[in-house]
Amino acid sequence: MTIGVGLIGTGYMGKCHALAWNAVKPVFGDGPEPALVHLAEVSPELAHRRADEFGFEKWTSDWRELIADPAVEVVSVTTPNAFHAEMAIAALEAGKHVWCEKPMAVGFSEAERMAAAARASGKVTALGYNYIQNPVIRHIKRLIDEGAIGTVNHVRFEMDEDFMADPEALFYWKSEASSGYGALDDFGVHPLSLVQFLFGGVRRVMAQLSMPYADRPSRDGGRRAVETWDIASVLLELSNGETGVMALDRSAWGRKGRIAVQVFGSKGTIAYDQERMNEFQLYTASDHAAEQGFRTILTAPVHAPYERFIPAPGHGLGFNELKIIECHELLRAIRGEAAQIVGFDRGLEIERAVHAMAQSHREGRWVSV
Ligand SMILES: NC(=O)c1ccc[n+]([C@@H]2O[C@H](COP(=O)([O-])OP(=O)(O)OC[C@H]3O[C@@H](n4cnc5c(N)ncnc54)[C@H](O)[C@@H]3O)[C@@H](O)[C@H]2O)c1
Repeated sequence: MTIGVGLIGTGYMGKCHALAWNAVKPVFGDGPEPALVHLAEVSPELAHRRADEFGFEKWTSDWRELIADPAVEVVSVTTPNAFHAEMAIAALEAGKHVWCEKPMAVGFSEAERMAAAARASGKVTALGYNYIQNPVIRHIKRLIDEGAIGTVNHVRFEMDEDFMADPEALFYWKSEASSGYGALDDFGVHPLSLVQFLFGGVRRVMAQLSMPYADRPSRDGGRRAVETWDIASVLLELSNGETGVMALDRSAWGRKGRIAVQVFGSKGTIAYDQERMNEFQLYTASDHAAEQGFRTILTAPVHAPYERFIPAPGHGLGFNELKIIECHELLRAIRGEAAQIVGFDRGLEIERAVHAMAQSHREGRWVSV
């Protein structure tokens, strides 16, 4: 059995989705087998070129043509944030499943409309929360649930990159208010997906946002005022009552893809960093006092679904492989199986937390989610 795939947008994430659609069958071996049917980009030239490169049968510069194509059964939405709601809702209303990049939408009401459209359609939806697919993160969840570090007392999440660290970096869509708040919905949603996966969610937040550079050079040679906040510091109260901290920075020189997680429990600590995504650190207080210390555990075939990619331990998966796993989870959900994806219903909870953080910053107080 095959499933017809449509891809809207072919930038960083578009290519990542295309790689996943091409690889999911060879890696996992089960169905339905993706048939790459239709691709949409802004210009006919780019659409044509990308369709050739990615292996899609048809291309268009009008994404609505792709949505109207009866051969398309599932749509990847990988365009800038401002387009997610319109494209995802149109696809759902046309009876397609949707795999949409994060953040879900820019405004909360748009996210609510997306969740309502998903419910009304009965179709499967998945958001691009790829980090929850890492076999390391899955194993960390197992350890926490099994009590390997006792009762969890406190959690810390940091997400830092430096692509906006240079004050002279060109103004682009991520500095426009139409993309959202900035670090909160560009970055914050990822740690929040981990919080949701590992601990269930967030009850209250207290946030402060900051904007390191007031303006940036624009393509027309002038300067343009920055409209988004590149830095966020947030206190969290999780839904299970535990306390946490989330720190985000898109202008942190030297940090390339850091998502640092620390989970402190009554019997030990777990530490993880996405920049070293094939390992995690475990400290257990029950070790002999003379040998206490963090030990590094490398991923191996025992950490499913690592074994689907590589039979040897310690060889390592990469970012694009997380997307292949996410794609496979989406296909499992389409087959009617229980799958590890963040659909639009659970995605709405993440959006709720993001907007509560922005409100907390505006009003200078704790806000319930
Ligand atoms: N899951 C992740 O880890 C992750 C990482 C990076 C980006 N993202 C998300 O992916 C989305 C895209 O980001 P990106 O970095 O790939 O951006 P990008 O700028 O590299 O790519 C966006 C693509 O969409 C195309 N596009 C824009 N408007 C279009 C339209 N109307 N019709 C068809 N194509 C259109 C652009 O031409 C471009 O090729 C964003 O929402 C971003 O937040 C997710």
